Amino acid sequence: MRNVAVIGSQWGDEGKGKIVDWLSSEADVVVRFQGGHNAGHTLVIDGITYKLRLLPSGIVRKNKISIIGNGVVIDPWAFLDEIDEIKSKGVKVGLDNLIISESANLILPFHKEMDEIREDAAGKAKIGTTRRGIGPAYEDKIGRRSIRVMDLISEKNLSQRLETVLLHHNAIRKGLGKNIFKKDKLKEDLLKIAPEILKFSQPVWKKIYEFKKQSKKILFEGAQGILLDVDHGTYPFVTSSNTVASAAATGSGCGPNSINYVLGITKAYTTRVGEGPFPTELKDDIGEKLGTRGKEFGTVTSRKRRCGWFDGVLVRQTIKISGIDGIALTKLDVLDELDEIKMCIAYEINGKKIDYLPAAVEDQLKVKPIYKSFKGWKSETKGIKKFDDLPQNAKIYIKELEKFIETKVSSISTSPERNDTILIVDPFKS
Ligand code: IMP
Repeated sequence: MRNVAVIGSQWGDEGKGKIVDWLSSEADVVVRFQGGHNAGHTLVIDGITYKLRLLPSGIVRKNKISIIGNGVVIDPWAFLDEIDEIKSKGVKVGLDNLIISESANLILPFHKEMDEIREDAAGKAKIGTTRRGIGPAYEDKIGRRSIRVMDLISEKNLSQRLETVLLHHNAIRKGLGKNIFKKDKLKEDLLKIAPEILKFSQPVWKKIYEFKKQSKKILFEGAQGILLDVDHGTYPFVTSSNTVASAAATGSGCGPNSINYVLGITKAYTTRVGEGPFPTELKDDIGEKLGTRGKEFGTVTSRKRRCGWFDGVLVRQTIKISGIDGIALTKLDVLDELDEIKMCIAYEINGKKIDYLPAAVEDQLKVKPIYKSFKGWKSETKGIKKFDDLPQNAKIYIKELEKFIETKVSSISTSPERNDTILIVDPFKS
């Protein structure tokens, strides 16, 4: 029996939706373990497009159990809206296929406001967050003043918890010249929806233990990407959770030995939304071309993604940090028309060549990529299902990439369609 964790190996938006959907058809249980509704996974099944933000991808498939673990931050209203939206497309959502952790922390309206206030005040130093309140909610979790799902059970307890968290927020709001956030209306609003939320809540760690004993296949579905990890990413231009594979264990309540295969989703080029260092960014026609062909607009915020060449140095680094066993290479077809394709194989900083991304943001902004150049294949790879059927130059590019990152390519995606995939290794079976 194998359980698989799927994580993004770049700055998110690597095309996890398609791969997670494909794997979730094999899994029995799909678990989200970090992040919140800042994530956006688009799934196309039988011609219907589903846009998921908070709900695990397994939700759109029959006979799968979807779990939102303790490591996720839940905006209760966004959660209920997403359930309604997906139900309106004919998907069944109920107590038999959706479980949320009683220990998950809530994103409340003052978190979203704080995210916006800070981003607006930061000017050029802004992070470019999704403005969903993710950062402030995780801050309150670590600050031990957060409201958790279980706090919705008792009015008295909720009232006390709100008092504590608002004492902190209102002090900051006052300092920033903003109005005081009132407790009573929020408490009433929360109590109104509490039964709708609480009915899904369970001790997730216990459920996962039971599923493991029953030899169910579990898919841990990561959101964002390793370069947005709060410890290992391009700090401070990161999200506020750990996006690495080991977060699947802490974010759901099982040991790291419950994850048997870590699949890193890797785009054949690089993109990033929001601010922050991006050594291989292309601010020219080629960058535009990648963006247009790759339809590089954010699922959650519709922002245009920044585009650049594949950065082998970064992916080799994130693979090591996260213990990735194999990568799913996505969006290869986006490179089809290019005459020349480049891959970053080292950086230069202050006249010195280095083989990793330094931790200081000042240095990350300074590094200059050193490229290896490849001849384009100039023919369509869209829809190809066998490695041998790829154009020769595409095979050379993939083989070199594989060698450079020191990790096997376990599948190659050649279009957004589910079946347009070259499967080399099945993570559940390998
Ligand atoms: P936050 O997660 O909203 O706090 O945003 C922090 C950073 O992470 C910003 O640069 C966002 O653009 C980025 N980010 C958050 N979620 C995603 C995602 O799902 N895909 C890509 N970038 C994301």
